[in-house]
Amino acid sequence: MSYQRRIIVTGGAGFIGSHVVRLLVNKYPEYLIVNVDKLTYAGNLENLRDIEHQPNYRFEKADITQHEAIAAIFGKYQIDSVIHLAAESHVDRSIANPMDFIQTNIVGTVVLLNAARSYWNNNFENKRFYHISTDEVYGSLGKEGYFTETTPYSPRSPYSASKAASDHLVRAYHHTYGLPVVLSNCSNNYGPYQFPEKLIPLAINNIKNMKAVPVYGTGENVRDWLYVEDHARAIDLIFHRGKVGETYNIGGHNEWRNIDLIRLLCDIMDKKLGRQPGTSQQLIQFVKDRAGHDLRYAIDASKIKKELGWEPSVTFEVGLEKTVDWYLQNEQWLQHVVSGEYEKYYEQQYAQR
Ligand code: NAD
Ligand code: TYD
Repeated sequence: MSYQRRIIVTGGAGFIGSHVVRLLVNKYPEYLIVNVDKLTYAGNLENLRDIEHQPNYRFEKADITQHEAIAAIFGKYQIDSVIHLAAESHVDRSIANPMDFIQTNIVGTVVLLNAARSYWNNNFENKRFYHISTDEVYGSLGKEGYFTETTPYSPRSPYSASKAASDHLVRAYHHTYGLPVVLSNCSNNYGPYQFPEKLIPLAINNIKNMKAVPVYGTGENVRDWLYVEDHARAIDLIFHRGKVGETYNIGGHNEWRNIDLIRLLCDIMDKKLGRQPGTSQQLIQFVKDRAGHDLRYAIDASKIKKELGWEPSVTFEVGLEKTVDWYLQNEQWLQHVVSGEYEKYYEQQYAQR
């Protein structure tokens, strides 16, 4: 079959990547979608069960730091576009073990850039390299203000520093070699299929099991939460209509202090599980703060709204209920991902707190 576009999505077995793959595979039967994923602890093909037999979907197990494997995939599928999400993505793990982040997030991104440049051989017509990044590259805000696309970079964790480095390299390949890149930097995502090391699914899992819910420090830190399907919609738009060389900030206009978010989640869980109101809030436990914990992230998403007409479609109350329902209905998925290695990680990470 002659496909209209032949796209590599890296990290397609992860949380956001699986939503992006699902959206593209279903919405564009005329595109070939090649999911390239190493399947680290965070990658899980169960996330894609519902679309894995679609004719326009392929999976390649590969490590983005390995040039030969990646170059071979470009050739095998005659790739014309990359949507790059593969990354080590958890701040706490980056504090414990930065080197994996340097390898995948920085070296892996450069391997992909080189493979694209070499395969496209300076013919960049109808080619596109889309790099997905985070608002954490901008550093930490005080009580006021927002991150815009021109906010100077000031990353403060090994994770955000490695993502910042990858963003710079993507832009450098545009300026130096003319590679047709586009970038986006998004705020915190939540929703189905998120690995339960991140705040919201971790809290849902613990509340369900009547385990302590660890809140770092005083719980005053603020994050701007976006439902993952809204992020996937933004990625679809930017991939098709974003201007080459440009960056788009994506955010939820939805700031929550961690402690308020956890209290709301406890109340929703009480309702869903038929517990006495207030029961789950008793599980909240304040624990030792994260090293270098950024106080506040908040995105000014006016550029993507103005230029591409995107805005969040799911309110936090609705998104959070949908997320809780999904985790309660997908017990087996949760059991699979929290077994073995994850339990070891959890014990190490939280024993010291
Ligand atoms: P995730 O950790 O859930 O998934 C990452 C995926 O990348 C996994 O499937 C993993 O197997 C794969 N991967 C890791 N190393 C790899 C390697 N060397 N080669 C090939 N595949 C590899 O991450 P996520 O939360 O879905 O985040 C996806 C992207 O979005 C990341 O680039 C992240 O920086 C960015 N982002 C995430 C958020 C968020 O809130 N989760 C917000 C903004 C931006
Ligand atoms: P997280 O989901 O790890 O995302 P990020 O650090 O990339 O923003 O954490 C979200 C917020 O919740 C962050 O301020 C750290 C805090 N947090 C806790 O209080 N307890 C936890 O157990 C975790 C994982 C995070």
